[in-house]
Amino acid sequence: MERTIQNGRACWILVGGRQRLGRVLAEDLARDHALVLTSSRPWGDEAWVNGLSKTSGVRTLQWDAENPDLVSRMMADMDTLEADGWFISGAILLAGSFPEDPLGTWTPEALEATWRLNLSFPFLCAQALAPRMAEGACLQILLDTSVHRPWLKRLPYSAAKAGLAALVPGLAQLLAPRVRVVGHALGALLPDEGSDGSFLAGRTLLKRLGDPEDLCRAVRYAAESPFLTGEILTLDGGRRWL
Ligand SMILES: NC(=O)c1ccc[n+]([C@@H]2O[C@H](COP(=O)([O-])OP(=O)(O)OC[C@H]3O[C@@H](n4cnc5c(N)ncnc54)[C@H](OP(=O)(O)O)[C@@H]3O)[C@@H](O)[C@H]2O)c1
Repeated sequence: MERTIQNGRACWILVGGRQRLGRVLAEDLARDHALVLTSSRPWGDEAWVNGLSKTSGVRTLQWDAENPDLVSRMMADMDTLEADGWFISGAILLAGSFPEDPLGTWTPEALEATWRLNLSFPFLCAQALAPRMAEGACLQILLDTSVHRPWLKRLPYSAAKAGLAALVPGLAQLLAPRVRVVGHALGALLPDEGSDGSFLAGRTLLKRLGDPEDLCRAVRYAAESPFLTGEILTLDGGRRWL
């Protein structure tokens, strides 16, 4: 049975829930969930978070992939949440970066930096969250359509996401039947500033960019599909078939 917090809402944690897709998801999920949002930076007095707090419970945490004390920090935060009656029934791992690392620029430091945030950090978050998630919970991880066709100027990033593509079915086996694990291989939904939206749209079967709403629907679908685990849903407008 799903355990919920005091106001009767299921409680979800969004790792990287402050900006871009994380914020869109937070605003959508706050309609019917209590939320824990993490960011790498300290939280201030943010109007949009205050707005969410009026309709839904919101907690904010600082989880920084660069923090050498990250693991103990996450454990302590999870202890506090549990002690306060926040039982996690959904988690989404969003944090990442999208660095260009072309062949010829690779150094141990640059590779480690890309993999620390895009690979090690989701592994560590999953490890911290998994034992604390309520029975029937769903852990969702954001990947990239590069798991099907790597970005050639971003091979280290693509390799990190390919690592997460192994994490999804592996973790699903380790956590079953208590917790389900689902990945989302995203095409361009919110392209970086300066990227050519119409070029990216042209490289899909559907000839459009994705919309953050597409992700909101997929996340809700995964959460509400109790026979779904270990799968990666591709949400890329058919980019991988071109
Ligand atoms: N946007 C797209 O179209 C798209 C396409 C394919 C895949 N994806 C995947 O979807 C996810 C979300 O993408 P996005 O474009 O919304 O955001 P993003 O720019 O890839 O980054 C997500 C968040 O990671 C957090 N972050 C940065 N450095 C961090 C650190 N040192 N420790 C912990 N967190 C850190 C940042 O939040 P704070 O600064 O608040 O910490 C940032 O908002 C990513 O995993 C991305 O790879 C996105």
